[in-house]
Amino acid sequence: MKKSTISLFAALVLAPTAMAQDLQPRMGEPLDGLSAAQYQRFADGLVEFNTLLGVADGLGPIFNDNSCGTCHAFPASGGAGTKVVTRFGVAATATTPFDDLAALGGSLKQEQAIDDELLETVPAIADVVINRVTPSTFGIGLLESIDDADILALAAAPLDPNVSGVVRMTQPLEGGPMRASKMGWKGGVSTVLTFSADASLNEMGLTNRLVGSENAPNGNAALLAAWDSVADPEDFPDPVTGLERIDRQTDFQKLSAAPPQTPKSGMAGESVFEAIGCAACHVNSAYVTGPNAEPNLSGRSIKPYSDFLLHDMGTLGDGISDGLATEREMMTRTLWGMSQRETFLHDGRISGLPFDQLIDQTVQQHDGEAAFSRTNYNALSGVDQMALSNFLLSLGRAEGDYDNNNRIDEFDWFFLEPLVTGPDTNNVSPDDTGAVVDIDQDGDVDLADLALFQRAYTH
Ligand code: HEC
Ligand code: HEC
Repeated sequence: MKKSTISLFAALVLAPTAMAQDLQPRMGEPLDGLSAAQYQRFADGLVEFNTLLGVADGLGPIFNDNSCGTCHAFPASGGAGTKVVTRFGVAATATTPFDDLAALGGSLKQEQAIDDELLETVPAIADVVINRVTPSTFGIGLLESIDDADILALAAAPLDPNVSGVVRMTQPLEGGPMRASKMGWKGGVSTVLTFSADASLNEMGLTNRLVGSENAPNGNAALLAAWDSVADPEDFPDPVTGLERIDRQTDFQKLSAAPPQTPKSGMAGESVFEAIGCAACHVNSAYVTGPNAEPNLSGRSIKPYSDFLLHDMGTLGDGISDGLATEREMMTRTLWGMSQRETFLHDGRISGLPFDQLIDQTVQQHDGEAAFSRTNYNALSGVDQMALSNFLLSLGRAEGDYDNNNRIDEFDWFFLEPLVTGPDTNNVSPDDTGAVVDIDQDGDVDLADLALFQRAYTH
């Protein structure tokens, strides 16, 4: 549609069409289409997620940090983080299995304590000591809603002969049947409520109705007894709503939107991603979420880019055995929201580089079942490697966010204004800069897109 000649027509006819089209929520925002009551629960949950617990609230005696939001922070509350936690254990030998040193406070070390006397140390006998980096929780209620049947089908019929993933079924702490697990680097948890209860205890020391007993510092029960002064469970129902902290934390995460993707499809790099086998694990087709007791979470089409299966990653495995997940097995990490991440892989070993090099280095670490795709990647031309990186940059990008920082501001306007107000830009391919503002993805940047861009800007 030519802006110069048919602008009146466009303003009258296209603008209402454009208004009918929704912008994707940005990271940290609630799902679109929530009821007023759900929106309120999201907002209350966000406050809870960022509430700094004190000792009187039940923080500690040993803990990693004092709110969910101090670790899950980037690019908005609930997001990923550069903070790491430490896991330790004793590696298996020919005759003994991996030992998570539970009796000595393993496998998770708590970094902080309400008194220095309680501070944990990694026991000298531990010969496996690894970091785990903080992933994002956005859209995690939608992940919970993916039908187990979809995951089981991927395990039964792998998308590529080089891969063979394993479903990890776990029991939600709140009861109900075993579910396919989609959370945690080793896929140990299947519901958001279970993760919240587990993290409340293990990251903050908050006992709750689902996880009842405190962690003793390096397993020392006497020391725990001397310092654990708050009666259990430390989490309790709010007299007005009946909700506990873990319920409000769950509300915020469950009702958060999936990370955006701009453009939504058609980039050359996606074909490369598929052709070299990345999509064998980082599934690039959409899931449609199944039934959920929570209204508005079912029937949503989402692309998290994971099969949620455990894979033998060879040398990339973290050396920790955890339930069904062996030392070398890791769950395929979701890639949605990728562009806003700063540290890659379970221990954050890849960081501090331009995005295309972060991707390159991350791929070089892929081993085991993923080695074939690394080999394919290394055989690509530089142009195709860059196309792949540009595709991954679209994961997490909001419409109109030229500089890809989860905000639409004057910098984006500076670069994109010539495109949306200048001569009509026709034939915008998903790989052109203009694709960031071809919001209705009709192949040109026109008044309809300007209207949407203005909404994104003032939003
Ligand atoms: C000390 C930093 C820290 C704090 C505090 C923290 N987390 Fe996390 N979170 C992590 C790390 C590290 C992981 C990865 C854990 C793993 O897989 O071993 C994680 C993983 C998660 C996941 C799984 C995400 C996924 O896609 O796999 C959820 C959900 C989560 N945390 C929720 C919470 C909630 C709710 C709280 C507050 C009760 C919380 N976290 C507090 C560091 C933290
Ligand atoms: C066999 C399955 C498999 C294949 C094939 C595969 N990956 Fe992965 N990918 C994983 C797993 C598992 C992880 C988590 C690894 C870990 O423990 O850090 C991961 C992690 C990643 C990460 C880091 C995500 C984060 O949040 O830190 C990126 C980026 C990535 N993969 C991109 C790719 C690309 C690009 C390809 C194709 C060249 C590819 N992967 C092929 C399984 C796979």
